[in-house]
Amino acid sequence: MTALLEARHVTKVFGGGLFSKTKNLTVALEDFSLTIESDPPSITAVVGESGSGKTTLARLILGLTPPTSGEVLYNGKDLRSLSSTERRQFLRDVQVIFQDPYEVYNPFYKVDHVLETPVAKFHLAPSREKARALIEETLHAVGLRPEETLGRYPHQLSGGQRQRVMVARALLLRPRLIVADEPVSMVDASLRATILDSLRQLNQKFGISLIYITHDLTTAYQISENIIVLYRGSVAEAGDVELVVKDPQHPYTRLLVGSVPLPDPSRTWEKEKMPADVSTRGSGATRGCKFAERCPYVMQVCREKVPPLYRSNPHRAAACFLLQDAPALGTEDMVKVFVAASPNGTSRG
Ligand SMILES: Nc1ncnc2c1ncn2[C@@H]1O[C@H](COP(=O)(O)OP(=O)(O)O)[C@@H](O)[C@H]1O
Ligand SMILES: [Mg+2]
Repeated sequence: MTALLEARHVTKVFGGGLFSKTKNLTVALEDFSLTIESDPPSITAVVGESGSGKTTLARLILGLTPPTSGEVLYNGKDLRSLSSTERRQFLRDVQVIFQDPYEVYNPFYKVDHVLETPVAKFHLAPSREKARALIEETLHAVGLRPEETLGRYPHQLSGGQRQRVMVARALLLRPRLIVADEPVSMVDASLRATILDSLRQLNQKFGISLIYITHDLTTAYQISENIIVLYRGSVAEAGDVELVVKDPQHPYTRLLVGSVPLPDPSRTWEKEKMPADVSTRGSGATRGCKFAERCPYVMQVCREKVPPLYRSNPHRAAACFLLQDAPALGTEDMVKVFVAASPNGTSRG
């Protein structure tokens, strides 16, 4: 079976172009591979701190920016060589929800506009009445009341409502995959859970796969089955979210876990002292592990070689020489450690 979407050894480097004033290169994402199967629908979280390459990854997957090397495939075909029919299907099948919904709205149009546009563009309804019915049904599906939502201007809705309208907009097209880039980071904490719940419903009720991108390990844990931890554009650790979050193996993941309140109160995390991030980003090529200068366990080998992903358990792998007795995986094989999506989705709350 061909995967719905596949990133193969994707690297994205910014800067240093022909007309660029600076020679500084930023490796935003490096040798990243990920496969989203057509079936069953999955939820994959991508976690990393600011600047770790998350939005770059989203934009690459959405075809909004081309990779410097590697390729992104939709139904087995490079995004750059889709026919116009295939491209149209791609634009339906893969939807996005961005961090700040306010940027998507035109303040002079009622919110109806952001819902009517895709209905018209993709001929989703044969008449105005059918279009209205479809929009109302979709608003209900994300927990909004049409009468409190339609006919209003963006500023008249709360941040949480605006973001839910974005979830509805993505759902209208019945996509196969939604890439959600920090969808709840601008939303009040009190509303986060309900929006995450709407997203989980999309997975369970409508069979939509989700790539959930966040800097927040807690929400990643709540919603996903599998997690990928990015550190400065490279995968530090990946696998079953339960294993990775409850017992992180990469020193960077331990640092992350140590700094978030965990849903499981029975487990306490040793806070480990890490030196501040001495960023050498911009130097382009990496020799050795990118985390070496912050790592309390750094060894000689860490400064000399880039660690591969070591598969320490069938459902997890980490790019750390502390695990070098385990078998090494190529980045393209990272998904082999993922747990299979359950037909009914996850149920962690
Ligand atoms: N268009 C761009 N031009 C130059 N550098 C960029 C561009 N977009 C992102 N970057 C750089 O790439 C790195 C990753 O950025 P980004 O993907 O936005 O990270 P995140 O979403 O995890 O915060 C950062 O160092 C950022 O400054
Ligand atoms: Mg971002």
